[in-house]
Amino acid sequence: MLFKEENFKDLQPGTTYKEVKFMYEFIKKHKLKKGLEIGHRQGWSTIWLSKALEENNGTLYTIDIKNWKNFRENIEIAKVNPIDFIGNTQRKDGINFIEENKPYDFIFIDGNHSYGGFNNDWLISKKTINDNGYIFIHDIKGAGGVDKGIERFCKEKLSFLIPVKETTEEFFKDKPPFTRLGYVREIDIP
Ligand SMILES: C[S@@+](CC[C@H](N)C(=O)[O-])C[C@H]1O[C@@H](n2cnc3c(N)ncnc32)[C@H](O)[C@@H]1O
Repeated sequence: MLFKEENFKDLQPGTTYKEVKFMYEFIKKHKLKKGLEIGHRQGWSTIWLSKALEENNGTLYTIDIKNWKNFRENIEIAKVNPIDFIGNTQRKDGINFIEENKPYDFIFIDGNHSYGGFNNDWLISKKTINDNGYIFIHDIKGAGGVDKGIERFCKEKLSFLIPVKETTEEFFKDKPPFTRLGYVREIDIP
């Protein structure tokens, strides 16, 4: 295991070990260089995404609306160097940060989980993702308005969203084929 939760400060992980490990390995396998994370909280997903990109000689850009107390300290413990910004993806400051650093080889959406918040982050991701890039979405089932947003944008055709089955059994034991993490290839977006 690359990083253990107990070595960090109050991480409050929003993603599971299997989910971050999947994204870490995916970034390495696809040799992705530039990523954007929307919603870093105390840095749990940030350290994995950043580590993978840095091992590919790349960089993670990450934004959160809140200046979380231990985020910077956790980044330093992990010895990773993401470029972080405190801002709102639904306001000019956050939009500017995202647009100034585009395009991204992947984007991880894990920010505002309301229907409107997800819609906003989905639209800005579509605008700033690289050709052949990947958009990861967290909480594709069972949290806030994210699933409704996905249905709307897929026009009820969920076929282009690829669920990460490896992480399924943790949260939806009784409802397989649902999963919390999925991704979309830019070339498949309708
Ligand atoms: C579920 S947590 C992220 C968890 C983190 N990715 C992890 O794996 O531990 C969602 C984060 O999104 C942030 N957030 C909510 N609305 C936002 C917005 N409009 N712009 C930027 N960040 C936002 C919250 O402050 C919170 O830290």
